[in-house]
Amino acid sequence: MDWHESNLENLPGQIWEALSDAVGIPHSPLRTPALSTTNRLETSIRTVVLRGVDIKKRHLYCFTDLRTSKVREIRANEQVQVLFYHPVQKVQIRATAAAMVYADDAIAREFWEKLPLAQRANYAARSGPGSPLNEPGDDIDPALKETSATADLEPAYPNFAVIAAEVDQFDWLHLRDAGNVRANIRWTGKRYSGLWLVP
Ligand SMILES: Cc1cc2nc3c(=O)[nH]c(=O)nc-3n(C[C@H](O)[C@H](O)[C@H](O)COP(=O)(O)O)c2cc1C
Repeated sequence: MDWHESNLENLPGQIWEALSDAVGIPHSPLRTPALSTTNRLETSIRTVVLRGVDIKKRHLYCFTDLRTSKVREIRANEQVQVLFYHPVQKVQIRATAAAMVYADDAIAREFWEKLPLAQRANYAARSGPGSPLNEPGDDIDPALKETSATADLEPAYPNFAVIAAEVDQFDWLHLRDAGNVRANIRWTGKRYSGLWLVP
């Protein structure tokens, strides 16, 4: 993405295009953003993999285990931020969004069906993420991790959840030798409205 061409008109499209492209680029730094959640008392932040983008719906998608803290936090408070940084392009994108959790429904099923078997095993831990263990490990039955196309991972499906974050604002910051630039892009309900900000 050539961010030097950015203006308030084309910036929303450029941001969505950069995020959408990152989904298919395994080593893109934009593919592993940080997702922050908050309940009434505490903020939590963690790395996730950006699994999908729906520009029309303004959705960012990631997958998780239904038993994680982030799911409980989103269910208590839908307000999240998703933070991206591209160190080569020197661009930070902070998305403010309302998140929804989909599990055991048509949306979860659609993403699950597209998930390679090896990745489905990630949702097969016997205890929920964050549960204590007597020794280091992932608590997944080793037989389920064998690269066998016939492995039955359907029992892991109830643990699989899709988080969809519906973006209502982007805070975009571009570090440049010629002077840093920052913009706020807000969805008004009908269109994007942009504003330059002091970086
Ligand atoms: C590179 C990387 C990618 C990750 N991707 C995900 C992911 O897509 N979904 C997820 O739930 N956890 C992912 N994790 C693990 C989370 O960062 C976190 O440790 C875990 O989900 C527990 O988070 P929670 O207890 O705050 O819910 C990833 C971690 C790393 C380092």
